[in-house]
Amino acid sequence: MKKIIVGNWKMNPASKKEAEKLFKEVKKNIVGSKANIIVCAPFVYLETLKKIGMGRIGLGSQNVSHLESGAVTGGVSASMLASLGVKYCIVGHSECRALSDTDQQINLKIKNLLKNKITPILCVGERERDEAHTYLQFVANQIKYAFLDIPKSAIKNIIIAYEPVWAIGASATRTATSEEALEMNIFIKKVVSDITDEKIVKEIPILYGGSADESDAGNFMTLGGAFGLLLGRASLDAKKFGKILKIASDIK
Ligand code: 13P
Repeated sequence: MKKIIVGNWKMNPASKKEAEKLFKEVKKNIVGSKANIIVCAPFVYLETLKKIGMGRIGLGSQNVSHLESGAVTGGVSASMLASLGVKYCIVGHSECRALSDTDQQINLKIKNLLKNKITPILCVGERERDEAHTYLQFVANQIKYAFLDIPKSAIKNIIIAYEPVWAIGASATRTATSEEALEMNIFIKKVVSDITDEKIVKEIPILYGGSADESDAGNFMTLGGAFGLLLGRASLDAKKFGKILKIASDIK
């Protein structure tokens, strides 16, 4: 099966002009890769990317309101995203959880996205690791709350991204090892299997994210068990992004 590589541009680039330039470069650098590619751009650039032409890249958003419509100043609803042609949406990123997202809101976001036929990319991950392994229960709870009252048949339409918070961004304390990623990958499968069943677990892609780049991308997708990657900084460099896509498409 084709690996999934997601670029999360976060609050970048600084202008529409630069976003156009970056996206055109990304398009040039995906040639030759068979991986599934998704670019999650800031709301204000979604239509710009669409106009340039998505080709075989899936259009993704980085967030969505947990409310469906109405008096929500600054809010962007799932139906608005669907009307722009958005196919994927990141939910529960640790940067959004740190600002305001609650487990209940994340659950509502997923429900609204599914209703609008947008695939949620649910981010989970612990803030720190401890000897007692309480971080496993922390991640299990994030998944259980996110999936609350979502029918099994719909859960298979969700992508999960394991992003240990301590490994994300320029201030990361260190990068995760493929063993650490694999441990959590197996654990997440068990949690999802307890909620749903064995068959559904096989259909849910579990990605890894957190300082991944061309030097360790291959390891995360082989030794680390990840079905793909959620990339931050590496997605802002079209050449690096292209290299990672190539690595992903060469994995058997
Ligand atoms: P970095 O790859 O920049 O660490 O960001 C990871 C991330 O948060 C992707 O969602």
